[in-house]
Amino acid sequence: MSVALVTGATAGIGAAFARRLAGDGTDLVLLARDDARLRSAADELRSAYGVSVETVVADLSTEEGLSVAEQRAAEGVDLLVNNAGFGHQGWFLDAPLDVELKTMRVHCEAVLRLTHAALPHMLRHGTGGVINVASIAAFVARGTYGASKAWVVSFSESVAAEIVGSGVQVTAVCPGWVRTEFHHRADLDVGDVPSYLWLEPETVVDAALRDFSRGVRVSVPTARYKVIVGLNRAVPRRLAAAISARVGSRRAGRRVPAKP
Ligand SMILES: NC(=O)c1ccc[n+]([C@@H]2O[C@H](COP(=O)([O-])OP(=O)(O)OC[C@H]3O[C@@H](n4cnc5c(N)ncnc54)[C@H](OP(=O)(O)O)[C@@H]3O)[C@@H](O)[C@H]2O)c1
Repeated sequence: MSVALVTGATAGIGAAFARRLAGDGTDLVLLARDDARLRSAADELRSAYGVSVETVVADLSTEEGLSVAEQRAAEGVDLLVNNAGFGHQGWFLDAPLDVELKTMRVHCEAVLRLTHAALPHMLRHGTGGVINVASIAAFVARGTYGASKAWVVSFSESVAAEIVGSGVQVTAVCPGWVRTEFHHRADLDVGDVPSYLWLEPETVVDAALRDFSRGVRVSVPTARYKVIVGLNRAVPRRLAAAISARVGSRRAGRRVPAKP
């Protein structure tokens, strides 16, 4: 890989992708909304790894941000990591509609448009690919968040099948609970989530890149989560959704579906 575009590259899983790719000698294009944080991440990576780092300030929940990101992706990158994402509070009917719509825009429209923009360059060169960060929530009925991640998995599998044999790979990564800023930003109380379910971002990135290089289309990091996904497939979807809602988080004394 020579140039990788990572969305949501300033924190959590995206920052871990950026560090790992820079450590492997890959030049980077880092995308997020916070300009100061992007510059500081870029400076650190340049001085630690000697790679070239470009920054793109873009809010993927806006048309303007999507256009800027799409344009950079179309200019040519060898690896696209569609990682930017967020969670939010509340049940479907309680959550503000604009937040639900932003979820669809950042998790689905951005993934679709950036993949569409980036693939032609990769296909011309017969190498590279796209890693789409979904979630284990893709496998259970769990609000708009889970539905958006289910779309990411299905979309990734579909595009991977369309371009099979081209030398270009598409992988959806489905992590469980990961220690990042995600839950704090969404004001989710995750105190009830057992410690054995937590993963480090580096563990997710290692598994994602390993599976990507092996041509795996849906990557579930760690054996424990592979078992959970396997068990989930064995129980009726309705029961799985009920269990998932119980392993949740609370706000204002009320249990809400937490989002891994
Ligand atoms: N943490 C988990 O338990 C977990 C589990 C499964 C899947 N995931 C998925 O993993 C991905 C990364 O999450 P994370 O846990 O690493 O979260 P995080 O630590 O909160 O980092 C989110 C990153 O995305 C950027 N971002 C957020 N909204 C954006 C927007 N509208 N436009 C552009 N950039 C935006 C943030 O930077 P700015 O704020 O500067 O824009 C930040 O760099 C998400 O897709 C999430 O759904 C997370």
